[in-house]
Amino acid sequence: MRIIVCDNYDEMSRLAAEFVKSQIIMKPNCVLGLATGSTPVGMYKTLAEIKLDFSGVTSFNLDDYYPIERANPQGYFYFMKEHFYSKVNIKGENTFIPNSEAKDANAECEKYEKTITEKGGIDLQILGIGQNGHIAFNEPGDELTADTHVVDLAENTIDANSRFFDNRSQVPTQALTMGVATIMKARKIVILASGAGKAAAVKSLLKNKVNTQVPATMLCMHPDVTLICDKEVMGK
Ligand code: GLP
Repeated sequence: MRIIVCDNYDEMSRLAAEFVKSQIIMKPNCVLGLATGSTPVGMYKTLAEIKLDFSGVTSFNLDDYYPIERANPQGYFYFMKEHFYSKVNIKGENTFIPNSEAKDANAECEKYEKTITEKGGIDLQILGIGQNGHIAFNEPGDELTADTHVVDLAENTIDANSRFFDNRSQVPTQALTMGVATIMKARKIVILASGAGKAAAVKSLLKNKVNTQVPATMLCMHPDVTLICDKEVMGK
């Protein structure tokens, strides 16, 4: 794993955007895997500012709560519209997010995984990391072998994410998420981490030893991962 420690959040965001830019220059019709949460917001802002050509790009988001209306500002469909889709020239038909309004959640997950494969697989996957070490919504567990699936959110994830909702009881208790197997199939992975709240999770990641109780450590087995973080994560 390559590790890049930036001075601050803005530098981390700019660098992450540079990775996306290079990917698009190398392959204008590439497939990006995209993340939500507060961490990648600065990267999306930079991507919009540098006016990249996204007209040939396809994107797949990692996850969304389930169920949640797509019009709900706390849902990831709304997030992506606000921070990315409305700011760049990516084509609507080339953007994918697990459908948080689907009637049959399992069928939706199966279809999502199949669509990723049909589009040629993910060239560059951007990830954040949860405080408990989750990636996408893959929570700590005994086994992390699934592809896209329905997941019960961990109590500490509901706690952490309740800051975006009016109160904790509004946080959905389930999500649709790419599995660790889906993520591991990406050709290149960039994982972003910012702030002291992620220090413990990143410390586990840096041990370079798989531990299913810290899902991000599965990335140790991937041949092309770059961690871009700020100094605060490293306790500096
Ligand atoms: C959510 C998302 C993850 C994200 C995590 C961290 O749980 N499912 O993909 O990495 O939040 O979010 P933040 O960047 O806001 O700390």
